[in-house]
Amino acid sequence: MSWQRRFHTRQTTFRQLEIFMRVAEDASVTKAAKHLHLAQPTVSTQIAKLAEALKVTLFEQVGKRLFLTDVGKDVLEATRELFNVMDSLEMRLAKREGLSLGQLRISVVTTAKYLIPTYLGEFCQMYKDIEPEFQVGNRAEIIERLKRNADDIYVFSNPPRELDIEAQLLTKNPLTVIAKKDHPLAHRKSIQWDLLKEERLLMREMGSGTRYAIEKHFTQHQLPMNKMVTIASNEAIKESVMAGLGIAIVSQHALNHMAPGNLVELPVDGFPIANSWYWVYPKGKHLSPAAIAFKQHVEMRLR
Ligand code: PGA
Repeated sequence: MSWQRRFHTRQTTFRQLEIFMRVAEDASVTKAAKHLHLAQPTVSTQIAKLAEALKVTLFEQVGKRLFLTDVGKDVLEATRELFNVMDSLEMRLAKREGLSLGQLRISVVTTAKYLIPTYLGEFCQMYKDIEPEFQVGNRAEIIERLKRNADDIYVFSNPPRELDIEAQLLTKNPLTVIAKKDHPLAHRKSIQWDLLKEERLLMREMGSGTRYAIEKHFTQHQLPMNKMVTIASNEAIKESVMAGLGIAIVSQHALNHMAPGNLVELPVDGFPIANSWYWVYPKGKHLSPAAIAFKQHVEMRLR
C-alpha cells in the first residue's frame, strides 16, 4: 500500500499531526490542549480522526497515563521527520524571499542623483533589511549597464527606441539656461537665443543624456550651436558658470539642489527644454519585490 493511500492525505492534516506530536510529548491530552490553546474535546477528536485515517491505534491509556503504542512511536518519529523537513523548507523559502527583498540594485543618470537618494534613504528606513546598490553614471553608461542586465531598474531620459525595453514615465526633468548672477541679460524678462549665440556654452561630455537632449533641441529648432567647452560634471559646470567661463543648459533638479547663490536662470524663449526621466528595464524582466516596492514608493512621493 502506498503511503498516500494509507495516509489518506485529504483527511490527514498537518494540524492533526502537530496536535498528535504535542499529545505524545506531553503524554496528556489535557496538557497538550493547554499548550495548543485548544479545548480538550477538540484535541481528542483530532487524535481520533488521525488514528482513523491511518487505521491504527496511536495511544493506550493505562490508569491515568497515556502511552504511545509501538505503531504510535513510529508515527511520532515520522511526524518529527516530516516537521523537520518542513521547517528546513520554510527556512530556505524565507532566505530566498529575504535575499530578493534585501537587494535593490538601481542605476541612475547623474541628473537624477539629485532626486533618487532622498527617496532611497526613506525607503531603506522603512525596510531595514534592504541592501541598496546605487550606481550613478551618464546616460550612455546607464544604458550600457541596462544592456548587461547589471541592475534591477534604471532611470534615464530619452529611452532608445531600438532597445527591447519597458519605459515608464517617472517625472519631468526640464533643462534650463543658466548664467552667472551678474550676467548682462540677467534682468531681462525674455531673451532670444540669438542674443546668446556668441556665448561659450558649457556642455556635458559625449554620452550625457543632458547633452543628447540639448543637441536634439538645437537640431529640431534649427538653432545655431555655440562654441562649446566640454565639462564632464554638473557640479563643475555650475562652478564654471559662476566663474564666468560661459553659460550652460542644466537640469532644473541640478540647479534647485544645492543651488549656488550666484547663478541665475535665464528666461530664454523656447526653454526650458521639456525632458523627462523614465523607469527603464529590459522587456520581460521580472522586477524584484524590492524594485517594485521602491518604484511605488517614489511614485507615491511624487504624486
Ligand atoms: P546625464 O543624464 O546628462 O547625466 O547623462 C541625463 C538624463 O538622461 O536625464
